[in-house]
Amino acid sequence: MRKSPVIKTSLPGPNARKLINQDKTYVSPSYTRYYPLVVEKAKGLWVHDVDGNVFLDFTAGIAVCATGHCHPEVIRAVKKQAGLLLHMSGTDFYYRPQIVLAKKLAHLAPGKGNKKVYFGNSGAEAVEAAFKLARWHTKRELNLAFYGAFHGRTMGALSLTASKTIQKKHYNPLVPGITHIPYAYCYRCPYNLCYPTCGLGCVRWVEDTLFRTTIPPEEVAAIFVEPIQGEGGYIVPPPEFHKEMNNIAKKYGILYVTDEVQSGMGRTGKMFAIEHFGVDPDIIALAKGIASGMPLGALTARAEIMDWEAGSHASTFGGNPVSCMAALSTIELLEKELMENAAVQGKHLSDGLRELQQSHECMGDVRGKGLMVAVELVEDRETKAPARKLRSAIIRNAFQKGLLLLGCGENSIRFCPPLTVSGTEIDTCLSIFNDVIGMTTVK
Ligand SMILES: Cc1ncc(COP(=O)(O)O)c(C=O)c1O
Repeated sequence: MRKSPVIKTSLPGPNARKLINQDKTYVSPSYTRYYPLVVEKAKGLWVHDVDGNVFLDFTAGIAVCATGHCHPEVIRAVKKQAGLLLHMSGTDFYYRPQIVLAKKLAHLAPGKGNKKVYFGNSGAEAVEAAFKLARWHTKRELNLAFYGAFHGRTMGALSLTASKTIQKKHYNPLVPGITHIPYAYCYRCPYNLCYPTCGLGCVRWVEDTLFRTTIPPEEVAAIFVEPIQGEGGYIVPPPEFHKEMNNIAKKYGILYVTDEVQSGMGRTGKMFAIEHFGVDPDIIALAKGIASGMPLGALTARAEIMDWEAGSHASTFGGNPVSCMAALSTIELLEKELMENAAVQGKHLSDGLRELQQSHECMGDVRGKGLMVAVELVEDRETKAPARKLRSAIIRNAFQKGLLLLGCGENSIRFCPPLTVSGTEIDTCLSIFNDVIGMTTVK
């Protein structure tokens, strides 16, 4: 088994440089690339670039390749299905993979009673569908979402997003009727309170202030929430947060819609992150890790909520048979061992990062669940001034040393490796991260 990255060329290497130049000419400049990685192939946690360099991947292709890159069982399922049926469109016809996967997800989704499943191709599509279904079912026009939330970039999902202004710049007007409220970001409480003495002031504010002053709760269709905020900084709210927020939702007939696109499918050590918080959501949006890299989005909802009529929502490619078979294979692997591995190795990773925190003043906060872990970088632990430049420099230097990382929030680094990660691979990551923090300075 491979133990460490191999960097043979300067980065980017000559082949990578050529391709990046072509990319600059022909590919949309709207993408955000932290560093010049041009991938040729990948297996497990090891990514090979076009110059023969080998990197240790703690990004999983943005929290997607849950079973590791090109897991042999997923590849087998994909190949078999590709030889049988590539596409027929589950919106107008029936086929087995979509039905079997719907049954599996319906049984997996937390909460009693029958569930039904809608299929799209991405996270944004899953959220978009949730948004429309919430309106359809409740016949209400208003919605709540959270600051720091990322729900995708289509117009509806973007309207729920409140992550970075660049994502919204020049796209207004967006979908009206959405109010963003502060998330339970306890490391930097937006209300300057302290958990647990705050008594969850952020939740109480919704009922005591928002619903009494500007937002009639009877007009609110849904609260859209990430169980653990992803792009916002891998922010884990206090244990009672979702229960209390859901209680308020239930009191006023508001749907609780959890966006598990990033936190879902075993990453946190449970199939859905919301299971850590003891809440059964009304609707769950899924994508990313669901099909090990094949494009798929899904939405589960209680059967009585999914009451929309034929023709009210659909997508030509949604629920593609190859993607559905990849998802079934992925879920089988998650249930067999990978969810358990996420819990065990996630603890190993968090413990290791907390140990490094003892010797690196800039590691202000280490947080997460399972293999959804982040380090928030600060200039000073007292003032907590965000170390934005340092964060980006560390990520770039880690790449030079062969470790692939991504940022989240303004000044955090996320660690979201495939759930197949071994203890040795985590130790390699920790060792490189330690070296990189030690050597990185910014002006
Ligand atoms: C929580 C969450 N929801 C939705 C999305 C959008 O997913 P996609 O990029 O597949 O449209 C993302 C993507 O990062 C996400 O993290």
